[in-house]
Amino acid sequence: MRQKIIMDVDTGVDDSLALLYLLASPEAEIIGIASTAGNVPAAQVAANNLAWLDVCGAADIEVALGATEPLAIPLRTTEDTHGPQGVGYAELPESARALSPRSAVEMWVELVRAHPGEIVGLCTGPLTNLALALRLEPRLPQLLRRLVIMGGAFNHPGNTTPTNEWNVHVDPEAAKEVFDAFSAAPADRRPLVCALDITETIEMTPKHLTLLAERAGSFPVETVSPLDPPHARSAASNPIVRHVTDAVRFYFDFHQQCGAGYLAHMHDPFAAAVALDAGLAVTRPATVDVELAGTITRATTVADWEGMWGREPNADIVIGTDPEIFFERLIARIGDFARERYPAQ
Ligand code: BDR
Ligand code: CA
Repeated sequence: MRQKIIMDVDTGVDDSLALLYLLASPEAEIIGIASTAGNVPAAQVAANNLAWLDVCGAADIEVALGATEPLAIPLRTTEDTHGPQGVGYAELPESARALSPRSAVEMWVELVRAHPGEIVGLCTGPLTNLALALRLEPRLPQLLRRLVIMGGAFNHPGNTTPTNEWNVHVDPEAAKEVFDAFSAAPADRRPLVCALDITETIEMTPKHLTLLAERAGSFPVETVSPLDPPHARSAASNPIVRHVTDAVRFYFDFHQQCGAGYLAHMHDPFAAAVALDAGLAVTRPATVDVELAGTITRATTVADWEGMWGREPNADIVIGTDPEIFFERLIARIGDFARERYPAQ
């Protein structure tokens, strides 16, 4: 039986690759995609999700619109990181697919009630929808098989403020509600947390895009370079490879402007891979809480590794992985999927 998954995303260049990774994984069955305001506004996130489903020739998958604002603060978006539409330089054709008539929050609640113990939730954006779903259905931590979260920074600097990771920064109240709600979860239901500590070791480089194009049988096989002119766009024959290349090129440019080098941190696809195979990750239990009051540390995630607070662990934090195994999987899966969807003539 395939693993049922609810994705909750703020698509987003790396969220896009997380979606492609799951679509390309035969053992995954995406049963719903919640669109969260974050990298770009929720309506744009939803449009991106629908457009990727078209590009991938995917079957009908429910895409629901989520909350348009965080729980307690105004929305902040980050087009400078992910491009004007959230998909870098890619220009995805507008989809004619319809959005779900139910909200993302209703979708979460109704799906977990309909399939108790069967669903893995994968959150790669702010946790607004999930927090609202938990208010409606407090048994959600027991109804989910597992939750995987990309978010937080523990023994690691933030990427938004000195101590804040983006997804938690956008909606810290929601993140706190989610971690609090999971404090009652048994050990095998604790959220798997992929924080910046691990996801910033997942460095995609132009070489990985080249290998992807080769695997997909796409031509010409391109190597994206920081020396390319600013208007450079992919001419790849395979539309999936072409759009991915244009999306990731923007993410490379952004990381380079930040001084990280010509690479891109693939936070969200890594979390997707962990959602399908927890064996990819070495984890350590901890009690996670979110600072809401600090004047310069608000939205910081704090992990109590040693039980100093006297509270049970509410998370399994990923502390180790082999990035190359992840990239081999990503390239093999998305490459084969792209080749199958658009066989070379
Ligand atoms: C997270 O922030 C977003 O910009 C990315 O999509 C990822 O989910 C990394 O901090
Ligand atoms: Ca994201």
